Amino acid sequence: MEKREVWASRIGLILAAAGNAIGLGNLLRFPSKVALYGGGAFMIPYFISLFLLGIPLMILEWIIGRYAGQKGHGSMVGIMGAFFNQSKIARSIGTFGVAIPFLIVCYYIYIESWTLGFAVMAILHKMPSPGHLASSESAMRPFLHFFKTYTTPSIWAVVFLVITLALNWYLLLRGITKGIEITAKIGIPCLLLMGIFLSFVSLGMNHWKGLQGLYFIFKPNFSKLSDMQVWVEAAGQIFFTLSLAMGAIATYASYVKPNEDVLKTGLYTAGLNEFVEVFIGGSIAIPAAFAIFGAASIPVLAKQGTFRLGFISMPAILMSLPYGSILCFMWFALLFIAALTSSLALIQPMVALFEDEAKMSHSSAVNISMILVTIGACLSAWIPGFIDDVDFWAGTLFLLISAFIEIIAFVWLFGFNNFYKELTRDVFFKIPKSWAVIAYTASIVFIAVLFYFWAISKLPVFLKQTNVYLLVSRGFILFTILLLVGVAIKTSPQKE
Ligand code: ALA
Repeated sequence: MEKREVWASRIGLILAAAGNAIGLGNLLRFPSKVALYGGGAFMIPYFISLFLLGIPLMILEWIIGRYAGQKGHGSMVGIMGAFFNQSKIARSIGTFGVAIPFLIVCYYIYIESWTLGFAVMAILHKMPSPGHLASSESAMRPFLHFFKTYTTPSIWAVVFLVITLALNWYLLLRGITKGIEITAKIGIPCLLLMGIFLSFVSLGMNHWKGLQGLYFIFKPNFSKLSDMQVWVEAAGQIFFTLSLAMGAIATYASYVKPNEDVLKTGLYTAGLNEFVEVFIGGSIAIPAAFAIFGAASIPVLAKQGTFRLGFISMPAILMSLPYGSILCFMWFALLFIAALTSSLALIQPMVALFEDEAKMSHSSAVNISMILVTIGACLSAWIPGFIDDVDFWAGTLFLLISAFIEIIAFVWLFGFNNFYKELTRDVFFKIPKSWAVIAYTASIVFIAVLFYFWAISKLPVFLKQTNVYLLVSRGFILFTILLLVGVAIKTSPQKE
């Protein structure tokens, strides 16, 4: 059997972990949600969710990953097995932590391929010219048309999807250190530099009118605190942006050295992610639209969907500036790097499942995972409604369930004292026991309340939807879960 890899350096580990979390969620999803839910009104539930859910779960996933990695398990199936004496039930429940990142990456990688395609189109001067900026509608019309034609999917969309799939495939074949770690070591510093540069460009637009956009985001607004929908969306954003309850963080954590200070790494991951989300993600798309199209355009754009700000309004604005093609290239290259480092992290749990549990060679594990991802990406491209439906189930409902299961299983069923021993082993700061009890009780209560409100507001609407395409997306979700449960049970080792 091939020896299990470990991250080659501490800085490589931190950058890879940051790359895992930082993604399209930070630069596209976050500004759209902030715009949709009223700027400062969204930020209060957002920060409360960060401290109540984000940080405790981030630490938990690093702790369980380190623990199970020493026993040779990196997927949530194996991690559950390592904690619960290889029980088949525990391993089957752990399939959530492989199914979720896999299902998300099926559409994520398709969107990632758009960012690559748009970056290339920009540098080749193939982007349309903006209409007159006095009206946001006319300025954006050529880009709306371009976006629709490109994502229909056009021949170019197929070409860039193939390139994106091939690049992910290649980097995963190279493995943890030579593939994922090196990509992050090169990609994350580039991402930070381009992100900071574009933040200044956006804030400085129209004689620094972009700064008013920042004011919109950060001006405290308590008016929506009683609106549970805002809480559910804010918490959902925290899960998505930090890659939590997906199994992706725990899988990366399984490749650390046995005495790695994972508390520090977890806090660095969350800190870097929040810097990119709140400061960079918050300083580009919204301030730019604010400066050029005015305050009233923000909710209008947000209501038109997640892709409006990033794929239509941003290029329309950037192409109207001097060196527009280069700025536009930078924006889409920034998105592409962010997406690439996250898609690798979303596929790795499945690779770890096949490698650690089914004892396949690394290349076979990557090849099978990538064949499945390719099928899912094609369904995302060609089946109408597939992206929204899978995002609803895997990107929302399953995340809430999975977060709940993780805390109940690893903190409470494993035994609080056992968990606490692991939490305080080889770390720079010994979290007081009382804090840990409060944090992991509060987070469970918070998830239960969110789930209740989510279930009464959204579930009935989605369950009522019927059309033939939904059979495909739901069939695919079911197929994925059954396949993974089959693998989890079939590969179950002797009790440890
Ligand atoms: N955490 C990743 C993102 O924000 C999935 O895009």
